[in-house]
Amino acid sequence: METDLRVYKYEPLTPEQYQQWYQEAKDDPTAFWSEQAKLLSWYKAWDTVGTADYASAPIRWFEGAKLNVCYNCIDRHLPQLKDKTAFFWEGDDPQSASTLTYQQLYETVCQTANALKAMGVRKGDRVCLYLPMIPEAVISMLACARIGAIHSVIFGGFSAEALHQRIQDTGAHIVITADEARRAGKVIPLKQIVDLALELPNQVMQVLVIRAPHIQVSRNLLRDVDFYSLVNRQAKQCSIEWMDAEDLLFILYTSGSTGQPKGVCHTTAGYLLYVAMTFRYAFDYKQDDIYWCTADIGWITGHSYLVYGPLANGATSVLFEGTPQYPTPARYWQVIEKYQVTIFYTAPTAIRTLKAEGDSYPNAINLNSLRILGTVGEPINPEAWNWYYSVIGKKRCLVVDTWWQTETGGIMIAPWPHVVTPQPGAAGLPFFGIIPAVLDDHGTPVTHEEEGSLIIQRSWPGQMCTLYGDPVRFQETYFEKYPGAYCTGDGARKDKKGHYWIGGRLDDVINMSGHRIGTAEIESALLLHQNIAEAAVVGIPHSVKGQSLYVFVVVKPGADIRLLDQATIQQWVIAKIGKHAKPDTVCLVENFPKTRSGKIMRRILKQIAMGKTEGFGDLSTLADPEIIEKILQCTTI
Ligand code: WT7
Repeated sequence: METDLRVYKYEPLTPEQYQQWYQEAKDDPTAFWSEQAKLLSWYKAWDTVGTADYASAPIRWFEGAKLNVCYNCIDRHLPQLKDKTAFFWEGDDPQSASTLTYQQLYETVCQTANALKAMGVRKGDRVCLYLPMIPEAVISMLACARIGAIHSVIFGGFSAEALHQRIQDTGAHIVITADEARRAGKVIPLKQIVDLALELPNQVMQVLVIRAPHIQVSRNLLRDVDFYSLVNRQAKQCSIEWMDAEDLLFILYTSGSTGQPKGVCHTTAGYLLYVAMTFRYAFDYKQDDIYWCTADIGWITGHSYLVYGPLANGATSVLFEGTPQYPTPARYWQVIEKYQVTIFYTAPTAIRTLKAEGDSYPNAINLNSLRILGTVGEPINPEAWNWYYSVIGKKRCLVVDTWWQTETGGIMIAPWPHVVTPQPGAAGLPFFGIIPAVLDDHGTPVTHEEEGSLIIQRSWPGQMCTLYGDPVRFQETYFEKYPGAYCTGDGARKDKKGHYWIGGRLDDVINMSGHRIGTAEIESALLLHQNIAEAAVVGIPHSVKGQSLYVFVVVKPGADIRLLDQATIQQWVIAKIGKHAKPDTVCLVENFPKTRSGKIMRRILKQIAMGKTEGFGDLSTLADPEIIEKILQCTTI
């Protein structure tokens, strides 16, 4: 298998080229994607490109083909790029840093893959990763991909219970973790959290632990395996498992508007092609770029644009363990200068946090290496956008606000460099093959640039293929509301030029500091508390975090109300889900505003949370008209 060298060549798009390709992908997707697929190295070519029945399951791309993601991300680059840096790792502590070339990455991935095989991991097995932002996280993901194991990375901020729930859902027998993670100078005892999670009933047989040399962490002799004692013994070569195009690459849990977290499944071929392509075009990527995506590996941005997209292109990335303000709010800017970062991709919440620290930090540092500034995860407000553009980019860099979701695999709508002039407000054009529409509540396309529900009318290679173990929920969640289309859950507006402006979520999903949080998930966690009868969670605007969490709680009759204060409830949620889901405000109420059929009128709770005291709109369906007054009287505890 020869590497098609086009992967190392990149021609910037022009507006004409964009239009032509967009049209081609729309009119003849088979021809378009067959041509684009040459970006990857295939062991066996496909029989069919995409399924005809685009919007409903089964979703299939490149069926009949065989390839391997790890091969595409590492092996095929070795003849040309073996000494090129794949990752500059920068620790939480500014004194700790290391470099990994493609050759070194290859060797450690092979050794780790061999170690997993020695532990009995086979193709199709699930492996859970609960790791800090260290090279071993990327290495473990690639090692799984190499041998055909399905990884499920669980964000290191999740609590023991949340971790347990996800491990159980995957049915994994193996967990890879580390003694500790470091964030802003603090230590997070990951291994201890895994141990706590595994005190609950589970099927895990072995835990592979990356040891912290300076501390003593308890070991379970029957279950724990030392990562490096096993890995270092392994051969530095490991044969590739050629995978079917539609074999699962990973499961990644995300929050929905209802029920438990959803195990979003992405497959091998379509996903890799989509992230490899969008990485090039969104960031105008050239071979000598130094790219830095600040996302955590536990979220989709980490998967698609820290690991798979950049590596498929043979890129050099910064992998950063730390946080924006540690040890000082200059940290991001120092890292950019240190590594001469040319493309920087971060979240609006980080931009707002650093903006609040003032201009003196970035102004004291030479940021001239920067060329492209990306943002993702939530709407970016114009003030933050302008600061990013002027103070960080000195008005010479392109700001690329990328809209996409865990489910979409990769970037869907963006101001593609050289095609769209960036402007504040998440406006952009769809990627090739993406056919969006904006619908009203009846499913009819809106007219006159109104805001409506954003849907995608046709499948694209990066589209998730199912929810792990729950194909029915997959159908119901994404394809039922607007039959024949994928429902994104976001609001949007299309302007005269055909640019899409992204609004917020239309469902009960909250976006707090770039973390996607399901209200239902927090509510079910609260209901497990012995003194809580009912709970309702709403998101309200917050100047730095985007949204903050406001929790309304109805106490059980007879419960001792003194046992429920704000801190107790916050701690409860932290224990059940994780710190990133900590409610900002808690309000104990006697009852909720409900319709006569018993449905909580969240709209009213949200208005109250936002400080409204009157003008609640149509209250005709409200069962108890006095309840609003009663809630307004409840002071925040
Ligand atoms: C939700 C998806 C995509 C990776 C990170 C988040 C919101 C995402 C933008 C943007 C406005 C955005 C949407 C979306 N979102 N990017 N550029 N402008 N909103 O992935 O956790 O699956 O969340 O994040 O509401 O539905 P996720």
